[in-house]
Amino acid sequence: MRLTIPWFDDDELLAVQAVLQSGYLTQGPYAAQLEQAVCAMIGAPHAYAMSSATTALHLALVVLGVGPGDEVIVPDFTFPATANVVVQQGAIPVLADVRPETYALDVHDVARRLTARTRAIMPVHPFGLSADMDPLLALARERGLAVIEDAACALGARYHGRYCGTMGEIGCFSFHPRKSVTTGEGGMMITADAELAERIAVLRTHGGVRGDYYLSFEDAGFNYRMSDLQAAVGVAQMGKLPMIIERKRVLAKHLTALLHNVSGVTPPCEPEGCVHTYQSYVVVLDEAINRDAVIGRMRERGIETTLGTYGLHAQPFFQRTYGYTSGDLPVSHRLFRQTLTLPLYAQMTEDDLSLVVDTLADVLDAMPVGGGVSS
Ligand SMILES: Cc1ncc(COP(=O)(O)O)c(C=O)c1O
Repeated sequence: MRLTIPWFDDDELLAVQAVLQSGYLTQGPYAAQLEQAVCAMIGAPHAYAMSSATTALHLALVVLGVGPGDEVIVPDFTFPATANVVVQQGAIPVLADVRPETYALDVHDVARRLTARTRAIMPVHPFGLSADMDPLLALARERGLAVIEDAACALGARYHGRYCGTMGEIGCFSFHPRKSVTTGEGGMMITADAELAERIAVLRTHGGVRGDYYLSFEDAGFNYRMSDLQAAVGVAQMGKLPMIIERKRVLAKHLTALLHNVSGVTPPCEPEGCVHTYQSYVVVLDEAINRDAVIGRMRERGIETTLGTYGLHAQPFFQRTYGYTSGDLPVSHRLFRQTLTLPLYAQMTEDDLSLVVDTLADVLDAMPVGGGVSS
């Protein structure tokens, strides 16, 4: 059983066929339709289809003027793209710890790490659950910092009535195949700021501004566009997104109920006021359990699982470059070692979930106690 399988049918095939038949393959009418679909769903005024969430996050830093010597607060528990783009701008990613229940930025740890050089905070909404944004937004406002939401995993997720991606200056989504809906590779940038929007549009396409007959290059920009082939798939996928989220929420609730009978496993939470989209269903295993051995035994039994995500402070680049050592950022360190992603996708049945949970219970029962977390 796979971790996730995208939900495709004739809608995507017909959309791709229409683009091929049109002969117009690069960013075009389907990209515009995808942007409109995202705006309509989350109530954002401006959206820009991008080649990935990584390029969206990078362009966010560029248009906000983050550059050499600046510091940007990034959660330690995230996919490295969140911090890599800060490095690409010559700025310093300052890693902050996360909350053990939500796996998202801990505002108190963020506050401790602010300096006169801090320019921005990049909260991640881990696995489809919003970070606790009100305290983070209040802190950012008080200190005059920009907020870039890494909502790569959280299209459709909500926080006290607001959609993830719409709360900071800029929000970035991913359409990678492990996300709720996919275009193969792809991303989307959201902003309510008309000036930022204009800069994004120009810099996404080489810095060119369209005149009557050709472009005038006003900036040294990027090619961060999404092709219309991908966007056509995205438009078809957006039609399914509400159903996918609803179905995954039902399945996640059932999975959580089944897991209550399995000792050593803490299921994910959904705090009051949040709508979790369960892009990934990530549990925490007790310290005494060797998570990597569990992944291996589950694989032997035909069930794909993986870690939650990475502790950046434990990755060679961040250790070598910024002097972090294994065990700094203690909550993130424990989550990096002990989180486990279980299969969850809309086409699964309740029987599939029972098989996952029964197999996990068997695997845990058969494991020697005390082979748990390494430092
Ligand atoms: C939190 C987070 N940010 C950024 C990314 C990068 O997304 P993309 O693959 O679209 O560049 C990912 C990808 O998994 C992610 O999980």
